[in-house]
Amino acid sequence: MGKFRILATFLCLSFFNLFSASNGRDIITPDQAMENGEALVSAGGTFKLGFFSPSGSTNRYLGIWYNNIPMQTVVWVANRNSPVTNFPAVLNLTADGNLALHDNTSNVIWLTNTSNVSDPTVQLLDSGNLVLTDNSRRLVWQSFDYPSDTFLPGMKLGFNQHLDWHLTSWTSPSDPSPGTYSSKIYGYREIGIWNLTILKYRSGPWNGHGFNGFTDMKSAEFFSFRFFINQEEEYYTFEIINKSILSRVVLNQFGVVQRSVLLDPIHGWKLYWWFPMDQCDEYAECGAFGVCNTNDSSVCKCLRGFVPKSPEDWALRDFSDGCVRRTALHCGRGGDGFLKVTGLKLPDTSNAMVDRNMSLDDCRDRCLKNCSCMAFNSFSEDGSACLTWHGDLIDIREFTEGGQDLYVRLASSELDTIQGNSSKKKSVIFIVIPILLGFPLLVFLGLFISKKKRKEGILGDSFPPKESRGKELELPLFDMSMIKSATDDFSFNNELGKGGFGPVYKGQLRDGQEIAVKRLSKDSVQGLDEFKNEVFLIAKLQHRNLVRLLGCCIQHEERMLIYEYMPNKSLDAFIFDKTKGELLSWQKRHDIIMGIARGLLYLHQDSRLKIIHRDLKASNILLDKDMNPKISDFGTARILKGDDNQENTRRVVGTYGYMSPEYVMHGIFSVKSDVFSFGVIILEILSGMKNRMVNQAQPCVNLLGYAWRLSEDHRCSVLLDEAIKCSYPTSEVLRCLQIGLLCVQERSEDRPTMADVVVMLSNEGVALPQPKRPGFCMDGTSLERDCTSTEQHSHTVNEITDTLLVGR
Ligand SMILES: *[C@@H]1O[C@H](CO)[C@@H](O)[C@H](O)[C@H]1NC(C)=O
Ligand SMILES: *[C@@H]1O[C@H](CO)[C@@H](O)[C@H](O)[C@H]1NC(C)=O
Ligand SMILES: *[C@@H]1O[C@H](CO)[C@@H](O)[C@H](O)[C@H]1NC(C)=O
Ligand SMILES: *[C@@H]1O[C@H](CO)[C@@H](O)[C@H](O)[C@H]1NC(C)=O
Ligand SMILES: *[C@@H]1O[C@H](CO)[C@@H](O)[C@H](O)[C@H]1NC(C)=O
Ligand SMILES: *[C@@H]1O[C@H](CO)[C@@H](O)[C@H](O)[C@H]1NC(C)=O
Ligand SMILES: *[C@@H]1O[C@H](CO)[C@@H](O)[C@H](O)[C@H]1NC(C)=O
Ligand SMILES: *[C@@H]1O[C@H](CO)[C@@H](O)[C@H](O)[C@H]1NC(C)=O
Ligand SMILES: *[C@@H]1O[C@H](CO)[C@@H](O)[C@H](O)[C@H]1NC(C)=O
Repeated sequence: MGKFRILATFLCLSFFNLFSASNGRDIITPDQAMENGEALVSAGGTFKLGFFSPSGSTNRYLGIWYNNIPMQTVVWVANRNSPVTNFPAVLNLTADGNLALHDNTSNVIWLTNTSNVSDPTVQLLDSGNLVLTDNSRRLVWQSFDYPSDTFLPGMKLGFNQHLDWHLTSWTSPSDPSPGTYSSKIYGYREIGIWNLTILKYRSGPWNGHGFNGFTDMKSAEFFSFRFFINQEEEYYTFEIINKSILSRVVLNQFGVVQRSVLLDPIHGWKLYWWFPMDQCDEYAECGAFGVCNTNDSSVCKCLRGFVPKSPEDWALRDFSDGCVRRTALHCGRGGDGFLKVTGLKLPDTSNAMVDRNMSLDDCRDRCLKNCSCMAFNSFSEDGSACLTWHGDLIDIREFTEGGQDLYVRLASSELDTIQGNSSKKKSVIFIVIPILLGFPLLVFLGLFISKKKRKEGILGDSFPPKESRGKELELPLFDMSMIKSATDDFSFNNELGKGGFGPVYKGQLRDGQEIAVKRLSKDSVQGLDEFKNEVFLIAKLQHRNLVRLLGCCIQHEERMLIYEYMPNKSLDAFIFDKTKGELLSWQKRHDIIMGIARGLLYLHQDSRLKIIHRDLKASNILLDKDMNPKISDFGTARILKGDDNQENTRRVVGTYGYMSPEYVMHGIFSVKSDVFSFGVIILEILSGMKNRMVNQAQPCVNLLGYAWRLSEDHRCSVLLDEAIKCSYPTSEVLRCLQIGLLCVQERSEDRPTMADVVVMLSNEGVALPQPKRPGFCMDGTSLERDCTSTEQHSHTVNEITDTLLVGR
């Protein structure tokens, strides 16, 4: 192969010298520079090095991309931070043998900056690696040592004494400068993904064939994954087994890691795998000593022997405080033991210690002797390595299949209780009885039973206990006098707005916390039923994109809901306002769309309840101080029972312009009717126009119809809000618009689910279907009511009061 390479290079060179063509060579030498417009092509023709502009930008960058596939897929960028603005640019070798990129005024824009190199040669290899070698063909510098956002076969993620191989996201698809996300190896052989300095997701430790948190990761017919470690270096890498397949891993601007594969250039890149996948992949979702399981109605529970630290917060599904021990450890005084828990993603290893070549028994001794040791496990690969965790156990999740064991330290009295309780369920329990000299004697009381039973026995303590859910709400009750003083006796000055069911006030509790109080008018149409519905529903929900209910207040005729206060009010106040709209850049709008999608996905699926909101609209999306969106107003929400996918109602509630055709006309609601409303919101966010008030000249065409017509004519950009016109990468916005149109398709079965939507929004690589005609798009074709003359004035009415209650 080596010989062939040299020969190929030689042939290429001869070819060049003969024809002095500017395409097709793969090297740069001191007397052969590369100029703007020229390119290098690797010997096998797989990769190309040249100048490119990302879509949506006129800046030029030196980069490497796949040579023989139609869509330009950049895998590496040299001058990420300093685009070339003055052309033509020149890439040549400096007098001291470094590779340098100059602009037209000979300024050095980018430089390899290594030590002096004699007789240097630069070559683009077929692996996509750009290498700089000296006269003895010794490697001096290589692009694989400085990855951008893409991880290719043969690249390393890890470190040695001099280098730190990590990925950094692009700022956006039009800007390759380093974004806020990075991914590197840390702790005990794990991959972490950070937003700036905050750890967001982790892979779990390498277990010999894959990362512990990726249960589906196994070297198989397509890929071989490897974690390599010796005195000098430690890294993760992968190879493709079948060379006719291309595969790359990208860390995108939202911190999502995506593996794409390409079998056939005609079909393009296909998304093969991505991470994070669900709520439990969020770092420390359940706090210290908590265990996350998406397949559990409460998502989080405590490890056995632990209880929630703040039961009130826990009941409201704020799990961040995690869990604490029910019984303190004895530690130095003896009397601690270990409970074996199976099927886990192991806790964060950043505070774990490793001892190589140590048996499970010795590992247990080691842990027991150190009071700060909370858990241990032994890895059998490369002789056994003993891993001991010190301090809080953070970011554990439980898998239905796969996962690993963890031995958790508990006071032996706690173990006795667990053993007593589960004498039928039977866990594997070690109890250590200290004897005279402190040498532990191991009494093995392990009793094995079927895997399923074992699981049930080991992780209990889901909170609140199942029995107590139901009508009994574990929700703080606020005192009327407290609310009165917080809102200055419901002073007019504190009124934030009027909802369909009564006014909303701003208040401040004595401890300084700001609240929003929704006071139901005594003669409200909502009545006790909707009130109870809202309290019951929202008390069970906890998600960063849902507004948080702090408590309620019921006194005589008065009924009030107390929410966290949202300083930025609602989304409609921004997007439909020319001046305030300027505050929302494209990026911010995208984040808002993504946030609403995540919140809605949680309602539909992740909360295990299948909740249909039924009145989703811009004015029901509140914004916190950082402009994060939170879905509010659950007065009309419904839980779909069992496996039902849709339900009928005689009472259609909702807001015209946001309601799907099947709901307005037949009272049928389902997750897809929320998807429709969500699509309308996307289009409103992108256009800055209300669905019902678009084109003065054509009063009978609403926003959906307008967007649809423009998309048919490929003139979508006409629709976009002036406020974002300058700040967006076109491809990204148009993609978003297409997703909006997919959501508002007339037939509910054509619309994607929110899970699909989240995938489409966060993965550029997913191909989008062509949207079909939207519901309610033209005059009278679907619904007369949507464009009657009285509706014309609706935009002047505050949307909040626009909620309809239609008796049928
Ligand atoms: C260098 O670039 C600048 C800015 O693009 C341009 O004005 C100038 O003409 C260029 N000079 C040469 C020599 O090409
Ligand atoms: C490389 O190119 C720059 C810009 O054209 C030029 O100023 C410089 O002299 C060149 N370096 C060598 C060693 O030829
Ligand atoms: C080259 O490296 C040296 C030392 O590491 C640093 O001071 C210098 O700024 C670097 N030069 C460039 C152009 O990056
Ligand atoms: C690199 O070469 C320059 C002359 O080209 C010389 O002055 C300098 O000392 C050399 N540096 C090293 C580190 O060898
Ligand atoms: C490699 O993949 C291609 C395309 O899927 C397939 O046609 C070919 O048979 C595979 N080769 C091997 C050796 O598996
Ligand atoms: C990353 O963190 C910064 C600072 O905390 C925050 O402003 C930003 O929204 C985060 N980025 C994403 C994509 O979540
Ligand atoms: C591991 O420990 C055993 C006995 O404790 C010893 O014989 C062996 O040489 C050790 N192996 C390594 C690689 O250190
Ligand atoms: C216990 O473990 C911690 C963390 O590794 C370590 O700092 C401490 O020295 C250990 N204590 C003893 C007594 O070994
Ligand atoms: C959820 O739990 C049920 C019952 O334990 C099981 O049948 C199902 O496969 C689980 N689903 C997932 C996605 O783990």
